[in-house]
Amino acid sequence: EEIELKGHDHHMHKEIHEQPASLQMTLRGRVNAADRKFVLGGLTSLERQLPNVERALLFGCGSAWHAALIGEYMLEELASLPTSVEYASELRYRNPLIERGTLAVGVSQSGETADTLAALREVQTRGATTVGVVNAVGSSVARETDAGVYLHVGPEIGVASTKAFLGQVVVLAMLAGYMGRRRHLSDDRLIEFLEGLEALPDKVKEALETEQQMKELAYALCDREHWLYLGRGVNFPAALEGALKLKEVSYIHAEGLPAAEMKHGPIAMIDKGMPVVVLAPKDGVYSKVLSNIEEVRSRGARVIVVTSADDPELDQLAHDVVRVPETHSLLSPVVTSIPLQLLAYHAALAKGRDVDKPRNLAKSVTVE
Ligand code: G6P
Repeated sequence: EEIELKGHDHHMHKEIHEQPASLQMTLRGRVNAADRKFVLGGLTSLERQLPNVERALLFGCGSAWHAALIGEYMLEELASLPTSVEYASELRYRNPLIERGTLAVGVSQSGETADTLAALREVQTRGATTVGVVNAVGSSVARETDAGVYLHVGPEIGVASTKAFLGQVVVLAMLAGYMGRRRHLSDDRLIEFLEGLEALPDKVKEALETEQQMKELAYALCDREHWLYLGRGVNFPAALEGALKLKEVSYIHAEGLPAAEMKHGPIAMIDKGMPVVVLAPKDGVYSKVLSNIEEVRSRGARVIVVTSADDPELDQLAHDVVRVPETHSLLSPVVTSIPLQLLAYHAALAKGRDVDKPRNLAKSVTVE
């Protein structure tokens, strides 16, 4: 019954719209601002190991790797844990140096991705303590890790990940807060973060209201062959994910980049009318992103900005301003990702693609 379309034309559309409810499930019973705590029952078996954790290593493939990149910022910021992120497919063959005190976190919707499972086994033989951030209950990654936190977003049928990606980001956020609490995170910052998490389902709901605007943009611009997605900080991986969504379901070429890297090469590609999607929530790098927007605008790009800022300067600079609600700055990818999912979905329809089963892709890649 859960996998019925329930009035939606496609699973991807249904899953995008389910996100306020699926995030509620991810957060339920785990985040408690009143009691100032995270309750992550799946980690209790690690009570003895956690005080010895000195660094984190996150790995996964595809969208899960993007979620891990966002997790890296959060673990460093909230838990002061030096963190690195690897593609599972690279990690498994690179003779990884696992130092003592490494918490290795495998991120996977299915828990069956062959590369992710192989990477997990590799780091385990080298002595890492392992945690799974998985959706599919009882899957291989869930069974083989020492402990874990499930996403609880329900079955994801659309091949392009949407609600599972958001669930991964939110679980990694909770993990970062949980580890932060055991280390140096102050009460004030903890409470602010817990409240930010609790507010997310409503903010995601509000961000879904961008659908009509994203649909119009998708139909207007789907004949452009090359797109860029730019972001900084936590929104750099969100830009990567936005570009991946567009590629996966519409087959349009898109590239995600850290906005400031443009000037080191990619800016040469910009010609008149090239769509450039910029993620610019009101945060510590906002003014820097504004200058990046100026750089691409002056080269003729068609600039679409996703922002929480109410800023006349930005309205002047951008061709299209897509407004999303303001969130805790570390959590902004959860809302900036929503219009990008909708843009990819509608671009796929505009191009007549099979959005739930894009060519050449599988929901779960269980062979190497
Ligand atoms: C496949 C899917 C992607 C997904 C990746 C990792 O390539 O098409 O959407 O992100 O696998 O899947 P996992 O189940 O490990 O999260």
